[in-house]
Amino acid sequence: DARSRDDLRCPIVVIMGHVDTGKTKLLDKIRKTNVQDNEAGGITQQIGATYFEKKTLETQTARLNETEKVELTVPGMLVIDTPGHESFTNLRSRGSSLCDVAILVVDLMHGLEQQTIESLTMLRKRGVPFVVALNKVDRCYAWKTCKDSPIRDALKEQEEGTISEFRSRSTNAKVQLQEQGVNSNLYWEMGDEDWTNSDFIPLVPTSAITGEGVQDILLLLCQIAQRKIWKQLMWCANLQCTVLEVKAIDGLGMTVDILVVNGYLREGDKAVFCTLDGPVVTEIRGLLTPPPSREMRVKADYIHHKEVKGALGVKVIGNNLEKVMAGTSVLVVGPNDEEEDIKAEVMSDLTNLEDKLSTDKQGVLVQASTLGALEALLQFLRVETKPPIPVSAIGIGTIHKRDVTKISIMNEKGHPEYATILAFDVGVEREAREHAQEMNVRIMTADIIYHLFDQFTRFMGELTE
Ligand code: GTP
Ligand code: MG
Ligand code: NA
Repeated sequence: DARSRDDLRCPIVVIMGHVDTGKTKLLDKIRKTNVQDNEAGGITQQIGATYFEKKTLETQTARLNETEKVELTVPGMLVIDTPGHESFTNLRSRGSSLCDVAILVVDLMHGLEQQTIESLTMLRKRGVPFVVALNKVDRCYAWKTCKDSPIRDALKEQEEGTISEFRSRSTNAKVQLQEQGVNSNLYWEMGDEDWTNSDFIPLVPTSAITGEGVQDILLLLCQIAQRKIWKQLMWCANLQCTVLEVKAIDGLGMTVDILVVNGYLREGDKAVFCTLDGPVVTEIRGLLTPPPSREMRVKADYIHHKEVKGALGVKVIGNNLEKVMAGTSVLVVGPNDEEEDIKAEVMSDLTNLEDKLSTDKQGVLVQASTLGALEALLQFLRVETKPPIPVSAIGIGTIHKRDVTKISIMNEKGHPEYATILAFDVGVEREAREHAQEMNVRIMTADIIYHLFDQFTRFMGELTE
């Protein structure tokens, strides 16, 4: 096929790092949005996706590019936001497996933290090239705001005391990275060849609030895409895509957010999805995206497409999508394909996931909005809670009467405390609530994982009093 360096797809960039280092804010800065302000508890709990057009990248790097003179050949950029909270290791893992290049965000005031190191390990294991954003540079003492300007211009404006704090903090980050076996340097202090040809990691000071360094990080990512990993970015027509999340959206019903990495996906395609109950073959009835520079996980005025081209995050509408699982591949049955072969290929993903979902015979029912959230919650209950909260059953989506019936069996098994549903970020049908009263089943709901843990622990405490 006619793959070439002149025909690249968008690079997929993942933003990773410790909780509250400013990952979402950094994206808000580039998008000119306020997604972070509306997050429950100010923390990200899902994977997000934002598509930036080439012209946005050009405008947002224009000042820096007056001197750098980089010709942008990438057609745009798809940025995946991930949660930094410790419970969401699986989503960080998924993010790092989906991306071409990463931004590891470090809070310059804190240096390396637990999930910084975890993210670092994931990226290195997968051989993903990355840059480190030393974020919150505006919190250096007496920082003079130079709104949205290239970082070197901003540093020139600072007093000596500010520079000296900046120097000592960035050196500290560099030393901490070195302790992890990572060579790094402020990106303008390393030779141009360094970051393209070696494992040296470029450091970019940024502020997600006042915007210094944002131009630099965008331009650097474009250059890494165009000069370092262009081979893997060559456009090709073969479809390659992964399910990000499955979600009910008011007015649209069940939708599947997918990441089209390469190739085309079209309305009318016969697509094959993976579910716990086997493969689902369905016609794609709609392909929706938020407008460019808008977060896919925030409900928006979606744009309808007849055809989408990777890399892009897209919401798919079709029948029978309720049980599709996040993290699995999607394939399309082409004119020369055997449907049975495609089904088998799609289902091969499940084996891995089922291993993670093995459950105890006695324990609570855990229900979450997505497989990603469910995996995170299970991980939290297994590892973070002391003692661990045993789980006997799992489910995805709204809680129905039948879920209540299922877990009420714990009352008969002599474990009334486990006749409990921990519901994370899902709705509860009225009938289910009524049934729960009759059957002595408790439904604990929350949209922050550890609140569920708190509720359950409090309840267990009351029981033993
Ligand atoms: P999680 O997704 O929950 O892991 O957090 P995050 O990394 O996305 O961080 P988030 O964008 O939620 O920001 C956390 C807090 O830091 C918020 O209160 C932001 O306003 C603040 N913040 C983020 N970036 C900056 C920055 O560059 N400067 C300053 N002063 N504050 C920042
Ligand atoms: Mg966030
Ligand atoms: Na946060």
